Amino acid sequence: MKVCVVGSGGREHALALSLARTADVVVAPGNPGMAPHSPEAADSAHFTFVGSGSGSGSGLPITVTNDAPEDVDADLFVIGPEQPLVDGLADKLRADRRLVFGPGADGARLEGSKAFMKMVLAEAGVPSARYGAFEDAKEANEFLRQLPGPWVVKTDGLAAGKGVLVTDSLEEAEADITAKLSGESFGDAGRRVVVEEGLVGPECSLLVLCDGTRVAALAPAQDFKRINDDDEGPNTGGMGAYSPVPLVSDRLIDGVLDQAVEPLVGALRRRGIDYRGVLYAGLILTVDGPRVLEYNVRFGDPETQVVLPRLTEDLTGLLAEAAAGRLRTEPRFSPDASVCVVLASEGYPVAPRTGDRIDGLDSAAAIEGVTVFHAGTALDDEGCFVTAGGRVLGVSAVGPTIAEARGRAYAAVDRIGWEGMHYRTDIAAAAAVASSAAAGVA
Ligand code: AMP
Ligand code: GLY
Repeated sequence: MKVCVVGSGGREHALALSLARTADVVVAPGNPGMAPHSPEAADSAHFTFVGSGSGSGSGLPITVTNDAPEDVDADLFVIGPEQPLVDGLADKLRADRRLVFGPGADGARLEGSKAFMKMVLAEAGVPSARYGAFEDAKEANEFLRQLPGPWVVKTDGLAAGKGVLVTDSLEEAEADITAKLSGESFGDAGRRVVVEEGLVGPECSLLVLCDGTRVAALAPAQDFKRINDDDEGPNTGGMGAYSPVPLVSDRLIDGVLDQAVEPLVGALRRRGIDYRGVLYAGLILTVDGPRVLEYNVRFGDPETQVVLPRLTEDLTGLLAEAAAGRLRTEPRFSPDASVCVVLASEGYPVAPRTGDRIDGLDSAAAIEGVTVFHAGTALDDEGCFVTAGGRVLGVSAVGPTIAEARGRAYAAVDRIGWEGMHYRTDIAAAAAVASSAAAGVA
């Protein structure tokens, strides 16, 4: 089978490597770190799967192409990012009788408009934060003042994970409403805002495959959204992740499928939406039970870089089944853990600097269990990797425990460097301690 992955980030690199276990993969447009660019790099460009040992190079070739996805000849299309989904790429491909994993523009609206998402969640009775959607600052501020703090202000439209303010200051929330609605901070994406009550608790990402009717959950992951250690600083697209999440039991996942995912799929169907793709539930585990913070319509980034390395089932088969409306296989996962640390360029998330030469990639990938996913890289004139975006690399490692996977990931991070590189040092730190303590007690 030939699979076309649409996108160019770390998530698409992880998808491509996982699909390449059983399929020929072409990534459009991809990045130069995805396909082996030289014979020496061929080994390190392969995925280290759980149980497969370091650097094992099983898998079919991955190529990258500058052709538009519509011009690629493939049996299955897997669309990575939200923007092409919101723009209707899946509809276009389906109109051309292609098999596509990813919702049409109708389903992708769940992510394209937070106000729409909140409306459908309310319709489906999915537990979520109280909210109001506004285009007028006065009305937004009146609603805000009725809520107990903390307060949350979101752009209605897409903002690359950066359009959300969570604050304990009413004044800051009001100023943010003004900046968003005026178009000053997020352009048109902020001309409507969603104001929400702030919920408190640990967060978790649950990616669920959907074939239009049936759903199947992948292993849960936890993402680290803030730029700095101890969850300080502005929100980013995600600075790291780990899986599994000790706090999230199978029972909790069954409850979420029952109360938050299946009712949503039902509500979408009633609206005539045949949703074939990923439903990514951003959950917060409050003292009153799990609540949905948001739904995204695609795989999480960097969650995918920790979930897929643990998948023991064939991803190509799973996604082809969902795309065809015949999801039968139950995704299964290794009990091993995985941890991903995102390396960012200077200035991210505000104004990332690009063009810095990256050292140590091969040496990092040589560590047992480690895979270096390329997110924002390019090759310079001399064929060396340089930074080409804000989130540059996702350094992932698998290991028998969260602590061991984490140790491997940070050992690999220590071997990589460029001018201005920065990253969080506390990815999965608390979970590593908690799960080691639990294992010690058992
Ligand atoms: P979103 O893009 O909606 O997932 O929001 C990004 C991040 O903002 C989430 O991962 C949470 O950390 C935070 N957030 C969003 N909504 C809320 C809420 N209602 N209460 C508390 N935190 C929130
Ligand atoms: N890691 C957060 C996201 O993919 O939206």
